[in-house]
Amino acid sequence: NEDQFKKVISHAKEYGYVFQSSEIYDGLSAVYDYAQNGVELKKNIRDYWWKAMVQMHDNIVGIDAAIFMHPTTWKASGHVDAFSDPLIDNKDSKKRYRADVLVEDYCAKIEAKIEKEVKKAEKRFGEAFNKEEFLSTNGRVLGYQEKIDTILKRLGQSLEKEDLADVKALIEELGIACPVAGSKNWTDVKQFNLMFGTKLGASAESAMDLYLRPETAQGIFVNFLNVQKTGRMKIPFGIAQTGKAFRNEIVARQFIFRMREFEQMEMQFFIKPGTQKEWFDYWKETRLKWHKSLGLGEDNYRFHDHEKLAHYADAATDIEFKFPFGFKELEGIHSRTDFDLKQHEEFSGKKLQYFDHEDKESYTPYVLETSIGLDRMFLAVFSNALVEEELENNTTRTVLKLPAVLAPTKAAILPLVKKDGLPEVAKKIVEDLKWDFNVTYDEKDAVGRRYRRQDANGTPFCITVDHDTLEDNSVTIRHRDTMEQRRVKIEDLKDIIKAEVDV
Ligand code: GAP
Repeated sequence: NEDQFKKVISHAKEYGYVFQSSEIYDGLSAVYDYAQNGVELKKNIRDYWWKAMVQMHDNIVGIDAAIFMHPTTWKASGHVDAFSDPLIDNKDSKKRYRADVLVEDYCAKIEAKIEKEVKKAEKRFGEAFNKEEFLSTNGRVLGYQEKIDTILKRLGQSLEKEDLADVKALIEELGIACPVAGSKNWTDVKQFNLMFGTKLGASAESAMDLYLRPETAQGIFVNFLNVQKTGRMKIPFGIAQTGKAFRNEIVARQFIFRMREFEQMEMQFFIKPGTQKEWFDYWKETRLKWHKSLGLGEDNYRFHDHEKLAHYADAATDIEFKFPFGFKELEGIHSRTDFDLKQHEEFSGKKLQYFDHEDKESYTPYVLETSIGLDRMFLAVFSNALVEEELENNTTRTVLKLPAVLAPTKAAILPLVKKDGLPEVAKKIVEDLKWDFNVTYDEKDAVGRRYRRQDANGTPFCITVDHDTLEDNSVTIRHRDTMEQRRVKIEDLKDIIKAEVDV
């Protein structure tokens, strides 16, 4: 819900996770900076992915390809011709919109009206309220529903396709989402390419038009044979990569969910033609398991199998996550056939084939792709972790229940008071633990307030040094989620923390 999402955004700023880019200049839309805690959380998510994909699979290796690629790459991949969104301009307001989003928003508004009617009736009828009956008999609701049905019927699947004239007619007819009420003054719907262009070279004549990569995948495809040969890889094998990608998104909203500069974690798995169905199922299951291993809640995931497929795919599914604004795509799993390698063979004139020593034949491998946005994963983890808890004494606490393995700081070491030699002992513990974990030292304010601060920061453990410590070499370790405290020996701290934060 909207309130929760607002809290997520302000918490991310207040606790040094995510800042608006160039904030002192009023920011840059859909571009964000990761702050001191955010950069650690992001790194830990990336490492958690890399470990599962590369370290744990002896047939998957990593690369780090350049962001700049030869411009023909994007001809071959289809991005120059087909990587676009349908845009429409309103001539009165001089505003630009994504045509499909306008229509979707309009439908969402009508749905919200239905929801309002339901809530009103619920209040009026109390216990006797029957939602299904209400939806199927209430005149006003039926009118709204009819409107949505008509729109969807008119457009069919064209909300995503390029049935542009139809979308334009509908927008005009409905006068939707235009600040100039009822305006019919729209341009035609145009396709707008999402790639950012730039130039390489000093002089105007010799400069070469380049693109900032819109996905990391192509850096893997063009290196397929290099890696296969130098790594003596045998099919099936995978190449993994994490790195920045850039898209000139028209509708960029929902915080770090849709950004213009973002990071992807992708893996292309090269397989024998004909085995794609079994590998598709394998990667669907494997990737869902990875997500669930983080404990964000089994019910927060669902698959959305694509009925309409991109030109290069013979099967595709999204792993959707329940964000504060509803279920949305978090990761894509695509069976890409031999489309990309064949295209690169054609455009480069170089063979990208694999010789199968067992079957004694050469072929262009098929590819199974898993592709997840690191920033989106960050938002999933972060928004899921932020909770406000009612405590027994009628107070509340804000706690960021990040999985311990991902938390930026694993433990805070707190001297109970700033005197009597306690700070020295606490600092010595910091010195010992920092070889293994990110730890922090905090001596400011009463210890209760320091606990709250670390809770909100997502730190799984607080370790308090008190006067007894000087006698028995023990400290109190407090667990963020349960708030349970127990007395342990200083020498055991490392193992206790390790047991929780290691994968
Ligand atoms: N190579 C396939 C590919 O790029 P995609 O569905 O366009 O597929 C994959 O993108 C993932 O990248 C998405 O599931 C999403 O998590 C992330 N992603 C895509 N566009 C994004 C954006 N503008 N901002 C943040 N993440 C994005």
